[in-house]
Amino acid sequence: MATTTLTLTRPDDWHLHLRDGAAMADVLPHTARQFARAIVMPNLKPPVTTTAQAVAYRQRILAALPPGLAFEPLMTLYLTDNTSADEIRRAKASGVVHGVKLYPAGATTNSDSGVTDIRRCKVALETMQREDMPLLIHGEVTHAEVDVFDREARFIDEVLIPLRRSFPALRVVLEHITTRAAVQYVTEAEGRIAATITAHHLLYNRNAIFLTPGGRAGVRPHYYCLPVLKREIHRQALLAAATSDNARFFLGTDSAPHPRGEKESACGCAGCFTAATALEMYAMAFEQAGALDRLEAFASFRGADFYRLPRNASRVTLERRDWTVPEELRFGEATVVPLAAGETLPWKLAA
Ligand code: NCD
Ligand code: ZN
Repeated sequence: MATTTLTLTRPDDWHLHLRDGAAMADVLPHTARQFARAIVMPNLKPPVTTTAQAVAYRQRILAALPPGLAFEPLMTLYLTDNTSADEIRRAKASGVVHGVKLYPAGATTNSDSGVTDIRRCKVALETMQREDMPLLIHGEVTHAEVDVFDREARFIDEVLIPLRRSFPALRVVLEHITTRAAVQYVTEAEGRIAATITAHHLLYNRNAIFLTPGGRAGVRPHYYCLPVLKREIHRQALLAAATSDNARFFLGTDSAPHPRGEKESACGCAGCFTAATALEMYAMAFEQAGALDRLEAFASFRGADFYRLPRNASRVTLERRDWTVPEELRFGEATVVPLAAGETLPWKLAA
């Protein structure tokens, strides 16, 4: 008989966009229902570049939590060409900043103040290595001449390998990996490296951007994120990594809400909103791979171990019950369309 409930140690989300203000207050409860903690991305407008800003952002998140929901935001700083050694030391001393995020300038949503050349960050990276502050990486090169589908693989060769040669003891998370090349690199590399994998990159290949599940053609902006969905061979490699017993691969949703109108536009922005359906989507992917028994290690253990935080003590239960993903959800003044809106998922998080 097929499993009808699945109980796991409460998971954590090791890569999340919460935004700010009223929009944040609307999306936060979705995450707090599913996850005990999340690594909160710093790509606000303006970005969170100082420890003082991270501490203030953390307070705003905690103040927006509905009563009765326990959730711990794990803060990050946004690395710039000018991040100082002092700022890294302050971040470490704060106890609330758990990583520093490298966005190559122009790589993705709100990355305009990102790093223009990693060589400019030598002092910050040296200090991070010394203080054991993890570097979280959006791993894509941004040169206009590089094909969008090749940007992750090129980043590994051109930026990541030289960077890790210069800072061999730095703890690194290659975030939201999307390619076989990234799986292979993270599997074989020496030293302290890990990677997060989103639910959407486990469930969909790039056809999802251009075709409905029934095969009808049409651009589907809600399936557009960065790094962009890739070919099926890459999805298969990610699924194999996530369901393997390799402790370097763990859960990070990259849930990235945008107002509906900014996605459904002539220049729609990148990001898939999955916070409301995250664990259900991961369960669906793991079940398709015949590996539901591996979900707990991926979702609840390995990330905490990598970030040197205690594993959670509480639990969550998923029930096998078909349900339909809502067409839209509140998002401040606007609405946000969840990924797979209108589709049926086979697992539901118990209330
Ligand atoms: C993210 C966002 O919207 O902030 N978008 C995305 O497509 N993933 C930024 C990011 O993580 O690249
Ligand atoms: Zn992200």
